[in-house]
Amino acid sequence: MNQSWDALKDHHAAVEGRPILDLFTDGTRAADFSATADGMIFDYAKTNIDTRGRALLLQLAERAGVADKRTAMFAGAKINETEGRAVLHTALRNMDTPLTVDGQDVTIALRATHARMQAFAADVRAGRFTGQGGQITDVINIGIGGSDLGPAMAVLALAPFHDGPRVHFISNVDGAHAADILRGLNPATTLVIVASKTFTTIETMTNAETVRVWMAQTVANPAAQFVAVSTAADKTAAFGIDPERVFGFEDWVGGRYSMWGPIGLSIMLAVGPDGFADFLRGGAAMDAHFREAPFAQNLPVLLALVGLWHNQICGHATRAVLPYDQRLSRLPAYLQQLEMESNGKRVSMDGADLPYHSGPVVWGEPGTNGQHAFYQLIHQGTRVVPCEFLVAKRGHEPDLAHQHLLLVSNCLAQSEALMRGRSLAEATAIMASKGLTGAELDRQARHRVFPGNRPSTTLAYDQLTPFVLGQIIALYEHRVFVEGVVLGVNSYDQWGVELGKELALALQPVLEGRAGTDDKDGSTARLAAWFRS
Ligand code: F6P
Repeated sequence: MNQSWDALKDHHAAVEGRPILDLFTDGTRAADFSATADGMIFDYAKTNIDTRGRALLLQLAERAGVADKRTAMFAGAKINETEGRAVLHTALRNMDTPLTVDGQDVTIALRATHARMQAFAADVRAGRFTGQGGQITDVINIGIGGSDLGPAMAVLALAPFHDGPRVHFISNVDGAHAADILRGLNPATTLVIVASKTFTTIETMTNAETVRVWMAQTVANPAAQFVAVSTAADKTAAFGIDPERVFGFEDWVGGRYSMWGPIGLSIMLAVGPDGFADFLRGGAAMDAHFREAPFAQNLPVLLALVGLWHNQICGHATRAVLPYDQRLSRLPAYLQQLEMESNGKRVSMDGADLPYHSGPVVWGEPGTNGQHAFYQLIHQGTRVVPCEFLVAKRGHEPDLAHQHLLLVSNCLAQSEALMRGRSLAEATAIMASKGLTGAELDRQARHRVFPGNRPSTTLAYDQLTPFVLGQIIALYEHRVFVEGVVLGVNSYDQWGVELGKELALALQPVLEGRAGTDDKDGSTARLAAWFRS
């Protein structure tokens, strides 16, 4: 095991409990413990990482071979070893730079597919491609996981740039999801994108069939209004989708990393090919930063190292992602898949048990809403939750600039409050000024103490544009990569989702009454009997 882990643990033991505020004494910390990339600022000054801690963390990354692995990933080496695949989602946003893998320039096919996407999106948006009842008014993206979360998050994030047809998302196999989305839509002017890398995912294929039946009630030829996005051309053909409207991609694009390519078709339909190109440019800018910036100034490396410090070294099991940007309200859900499906692993690449915890539990909600819900626990609960704030300097509503100012003041106040806290003496003084005395003063004051010294980071950017969204998403992708390399796990497989899928398949005949429960545990058998009754 990399020796730096022990050195970091020793260092943590020596500084644990030190007030983070004390680190600000010489006036240089705020600048020193922040880094920038193309206008984006990452501030990690409000953590208990000091100069020595940072040096040890940087050493950890160096000794883990992050630089060599980074070169290998961008070059198309098969770093997804358990599936024997390259990891090349970065090529989707750097299509103009030739990249030879297995003797072939893979960017030629990427550019061709991208050009077809652009032409199709332009046709739909201009009314040259129509439904059987006229111009397409609504698009439904049917997909789940990586074929849903990224596009759904991005379409919401880019609402101010949305000038195409309305876009809806159906993911859950719960029929309620399809029913609620379909209600009120006109089948004759609706375009359906079936988005599935494998084209076998039961939720997506079931919903695709449901929507096809819904459309067939009104429209003579539903298949003409279906598009597929998949790596499985044989299966899209078997479903009856014209190859002209199938947008393929390679197996070296992981599902949760796939919104940059054809899985992003719904985004392109919403904001147009130019807006989508800006999104790609933002991702490419972060790629360049990740490849070129020294580790001490490198945003993905720093985000990963701060995360490793909080989770593996300090032992904080969760991390809250708190965008003070309402349009990023689906970012936490998107990051849950990106980070937890990637680094939620129990063995290292060679199959050995991990000697430390894998990636953290990621969760969150936009501010200020979360402040009126779970921030109570963040400020006064017994567990420490490292917080990651995101905030834009400018909103998109110039008439509501006063609301944006309130938003930003709340964001800055929360990280300040988490670090500063409120001592018993301060709380006592406040309550005494309200007239309390004696035992009641003491009791009431104790409820108003904030322990403080709770770490947070802030990612600040000018405004949520397609370019900035591209930067943010690529930043998080590379953070996951760095964290995965340091932990020694394969961030690009997801075997942990398989067992549940297999058991669900086996339970279908049980719930239909075609199979018994002899091989089931008592709880599962009883619940199955409850359903049957
Ligand atoms: O079950 C998990 C998963 O395989 C994710 O990794 C993936 O993003 C999702 O299912 C959807 O897969 P597909 O795009 O093949 O339908």
